[in-house]
Parts: sequence; structure tokens; C-alpha cells
Amino acid sequence: MSDNEDTLTIRDNRTGNEFTLPITDGTINAMEFRQIKEKEDDFGLMVYDPAFKNTASCRSAVTLIDGDKGILRYRGYPIEQLAEHSTFLEVAYLLIHGDLPNQVDHDAWVHDITIHTYVHQFVLRAMDGFKWDAHAMGKMVSLLGSLSTFYPDSKNVRDPALRHEHIVKIIAKMPTMAAWCFRHSQGRPYVYPDNDLDYVGNFLNMLFRMAEPRYEVNPVLRKALDVLFILHADHEQNCSANAARAVGSSEADPYCSLAAATAALYGPLHGGANEAVLRMLREIGDVKNIPAFVDNCKNGEQRLMGFGHRVYKNYDPRARIIKGLAHEVFEITGNNPLLEIALELEKIALNDEYFVKRKLYPNVDFYSGLIYQSMGFPVEMFPVLFAIPRAAGWLAQWSEMLADDAQKIARPRQIYVGAGERSYIPIDKR
Ligand code: SDX
Repeated sequence: MSDNEDTLTIRDNRTGNEFTLPITDGTINAMEFRQIKEKEDDFGLMVYDPAFKNTASCRSAVTLIDGDKGILRYRGYPIEQLAEHSTFLEVAYLLIHGDLPNQVDHDAWVHDITIHTYVHQFVLRAMDGFKWDAHAMGKMVSLLGSLSTFYPDSKNVRDPALRHEHIVKIIAKMPTMAAWCFRHSQGRPYVYPDNDLDYVGNFLNMLFRMAEPRYEVNPVLRKALDVLFILHADHEQNCSANAARAVGSSEADPYCSLAAATAALYGPLHGGANEAVLRMLREIGDVKNIPAFVDNCKNGEQRLMGFGHRVYKNYDPRARIIKGLAHEVFEITGNNPLLEIALELEKIALNDEYFVKRKLYPNVDFYSGLIYQSMGFPVEMFPVLFAIPRAAGWLAQWSEMLADDAQKIARPRQIYVGAGERSYIPIDKR
């Protein structure tokens, strides 16, 4: 075996046997380890990787993140350029189809999305089953799952035309359901889509229109939300994308696969962090309380929500863009008093050894909640505002998984550490 070949030679010291495994794209295929056995009838070696910290679950062309350099690209396009020049619907097209659309394809895509913004009236009956203060993410998980009952043909996940039809339907209906979750919590009548407005303008209309005959979309807020949707659209194999792929791998329909992804996003360690950041800033209450709070984070009593990332060991490029966007929004909405606490918290944390050593930087969730709050959203809506655009990324990942011949139903193995065989004991003998 000559040096610098793309192989790994392993010696099993239990047997003295040597194995040479091919290195492909910086990885070893885990199944190669099964040939390494102590005895002939052994199962062979597995790879143990809780939380998949060092495991590639798929080959994907959708999104690239370089955590050390703070790079994020959708289908090769840098997030900074997409945020500056594109729109969320164009980015959704890019994620799903793999290339930016020409004008004809763009207009057809926007038309298809626009004419599917209505949601079946029975969904509203389901909505009325929720308490007025039910968390919006709990409602979204339920509504997405319930939509699968209206579209039984979406179970035909191997049919490309049906896959595309339901991708369009889901992207189109997310804002409508999200807006209705908000109106339900406010006790306000539901506002139906106004298809003369664009995707984000229509969403704002369904959220905030009251008695006026036509909702007046504020162009600055509309643009800010469109950029926020672009920034949240995908992020390669994050927890919720993994959930979408895992559930989708059983050939569940896209509505149920995305209900699972939405449930994963709900967690405060993931998309629920934007809500947790706002609650944290409110709890800190004043810049003078920051040093004590930071000490609590360093002794493990609390987490600095909106900081840290499994992949980014540098500033999250999305956080940088959102921080700039915040100032544009506050020009319209008035300054958010919590911004001062957030800026001071960031300044202190970025100079504190505990955070520097662990490479903990602000992530996408640190500043986004300040903008959402200033735009009039309650904190329960913050993760919903994450789920709307991320539906495009989840659907791109779900489609790619189905088209990948290397993929099968996701079914990890385990290291069994439980009891050995034992006999049943009648209850009167225990
Ligand atoms: C998102 O994966 C994605 O791409 C997700 C996302 C996307 O777009 O899909 O980017 C969106 O979910 C962003 C992350 C939002 N979550 C938060 O802001 C919650 C706060 N952050 C963390 O809980 C944490 O940083 C995670 C969950 C984001 C990452 O956790 P890891 O990679 O599992 O790291 P870890 O928990 O093992 O922490 C490593 C060390 C630990 O200290 P030690 O045990 O080494 O002493 O860093 C510490 C942790 O205690 N640490 C923190 C911290 N995050 C990590 N300490 C204080 N505050 C924090 N926020």
C-alpha cells in the first residue's frame, strides 16, 4: 500500500488483522467497519456517535456551511448575496429546484404558490379546538399533520409530480396557517389571503389587517421579513432537517414529515431559541444585571440563549445580517429597549474567556427575536416565523433524501447496556 492513497489502514490488535478502508469525501463508510471482527460469527464493529456529532447522514447539494469560516451558501450562492438581491420565494425555488429561476419559471412558481394560499375551512374548525393561549408551535405541528388528511394522494411520495404539487401547497399554506394561529391567540377574526399581495405582504395582511378595507403593507417591514425568511430557509443537516429526513425515510407524506420537523424546531435548543432569547433578555431586565447572569452561564446554571452552535465556531453569518436589519426595523417601529441589553451582553460574552474558549458566538436566534417583538409578534410566534421559511429547506432535504438511492428507512443501531436475560417474577413474589 503506497503512502498518500485515499485509504485508512487499521490494525485490530485483538486479532492482529489489518484492514485498508477507502476514504471517500473525507469519510469512511460505516459499513466498512462491519468486516472487523474478533470472531468469525461476530456482528462486526459499529461506529458510536451520540447526537451525530461526527457522522455524515447523507450526501447533499442543498446547503453548505463552513463553521470555521462562518460561510453559508444555498446551492452555492452566498447567503449575503441572496439576502441582498433575492426574495424568499426565489430562494425557495433555488433550494427546491437547485438553480435560480429565469423570469418565466419564477413567475410560474410565484403564481403556483399564490393560488394555493387558502387552507381548507375544516382546519379552522380544528383551530377552534385549541385553548386561546395554546402555543403557536403546538398549533402549527397539529395543523400541518392534519393537512395530510386533506391530501391523501401526498402519500405517493415516489411520484415526482405529486411531490412537487404538495411542496407548492405546503410553502403556500404555511403563512396562512401561521397567521391564523396568531389571530386565534388574539381572539381576532381570521383574515383570508389577498392574492394581489406578494408572499410576505400577504402574510402581514393575514396577521395584522383589522377593519380597514385593504391592508397597507409597510415596505421596510415587508423587506425585513423577506430577508429574515431568506436567512432562515435552510441550514443543512440541523436537528429539524434530520427529523424531516428520518420521518420522510419511512415514506410518510410531506405534511407529517414536516409536522415532525416543526416539532423538532420547537425545542429551545433549536428554533425555539429565538423565543428563549427574548425571555432571557426580559429576565436580565437591565445591563447592570448582565455580569451576574454571565456568571450563572459560566457556572452552568443557565445558558446564554442565542449563543453557540454545533457547526459555527465563528460568528453566524446570519446573525451579522440580522443585527444590521434590526436597526432598519427600529427606524420604523421605534427602538427596542432590550437591544441595549443584547448588545452589551454580546460585547461582554465575546470578550469572556469562557465563551471565547468554547467558540460561542451569537447565532441566528440572538437578534431575530428583537425584530419580531418590535414588529408586534408575541414570543410564542417567534419559532413559527422560523418554521415558515424553513419549510422550503425541509422540503428540499426531504426531496433529496427520496431521490438518493443510497438512502433507506432511517434505523440507527445501539449499544445495549440493559439487563441480561431474566425470568418473569409474579407480582406477589417481588
Ligand atoms: C439553531 O444546527 C443548526 O444548524 C441549527 C440552526 C439552524 O438554522 O437550523 O442554526 C438554528 O438551532 C441555532 C442554535 C439555537 N440554540 C441556542 O441558541 C441555544 C443555546 N445554545 C446551545 O444550547 C448550544 O450552543 C447548541 C445547542 C446550539 C449547540 O450545542 P452543542 O454543539 O451540543 O454544544 P454543547 O452543548 O456540547 O456545548 C459545548 C460547551 C459546553 O460547555 P462544557 O461542557 O465544554 O464546559 O459550550 C457550552 C456548554 O455548556 N455552551 C454554552 C452555550 N452553548 C454551549 N454555555 C453557555 N451558553 C450557551 N449558549
